[in-house]
Amino acid sequence: MTKTAVITGASRGIGQAIAAAMVEAGYRVLGTATTEAGAENISALLGGKGRGYVVDLAVQQSVSNFLEALKQDQETPLILVNNAGITKDNLLMRMKAEEWHDVIATNLSGVFQLTQGLLRGMMKAKFGRVINLSSVVGRMGNGGQSNYAASKAGIEGFSRALGAEVASRNITVNSVAPGFIETDMTTALSSDQRSAMLARVPAARLGKPEEVAALVKFLASEDASYITGETLHINGGMYTA
Ligand SMILES: NC(=O)c1ccc[n+]([C@@H]2O[C@H](COP(=O)([O-])OP(=O)(O)OC[C@H]3O[C@@H](n4cnc5c(N)ncnc54)[C@H](OP(=O)(O)O)[C@@H]3O)[C@@H](O)[C@H]2O)c1
Repeated sequence: MTKTAVITGASRGIGQAIAAAMVEAGYRVLGTATTEAGAENISALLGGKGRGYVVDLAVQQSVSNFLEALKQDQETPLILVNNAGITKDNLLMRMKAEEWHDVIATNLSGVFQLTQGLLRGMMKAKFGRVINLSSVVGRMGNGGQSNYAASKAGIEGFSRALGAEVASRNITVNSVAPGFIETDMTTALSSDQRSAMLARVPAARLGKPEEVAALVKFLASEDASYITGETLHINGGMYTA
């Protein structure tokens, strides 16, 4: 039976690569974007093997609407890739409450709400995969990113705790923690920031979204059934747990 995967933030970067890899592997893919245009683009890229939806993870009503739309469309996703994430960097002394709350709401609270909403279907099916995109910054920390680091360290703790809750139902919950990957998130950096970043990577290059997607695809597979509560690092050697 074809399994269905929800991938948040599938309009760009790592999420888009995950959507492509999962379709290639034979899954039905439901990808999200924050705009109608983004969702339509996802539908077009998936070419009948799934579709796009609009969801803003920072807005509870938007997540509820998405969950309701999935129900109406009789979709029963057994795989959830919580990929969407944002940064709003600032030194803590200058950080506005809004910058803190936006990052936590999108990267962490949205993950809670969506995962809770889809977990019942996985429990019923006695199969499920929840894969959460963390970051090397969640372990290493990084000046100017206390909000982002807190959200990513939080998602790893969330994965460990939920992994323990649902392991007996054949549901695994893991985090994938990328280092520096070639996406809009990293191209936004200045060339100085980029050189400083590369100097910290033994592999001397940025990772590709497709490399992260391959790891997510593995975690979603039957072959990864006995891995849960784990964080898998993918960072060209810049940090080893
Ligand atoms: N790139 C890296 O080097 C790197 C490193 C470590 C971890 N990560 C993590 O990997 C994940 C993907 O990163 P990326 O670099 O591929 O990001 P990206 O290129 O910036 O894309 C972000 C994605 O998230 C969606 N999104 C943004 N705000 C959202 C919201 N409020 N609600 C729902 N979706 C929202 C965007 O949708 P729209 O297109 O509609 O805006 C887009 O699809 C993130 O969790 C990030 O923290 C990335």
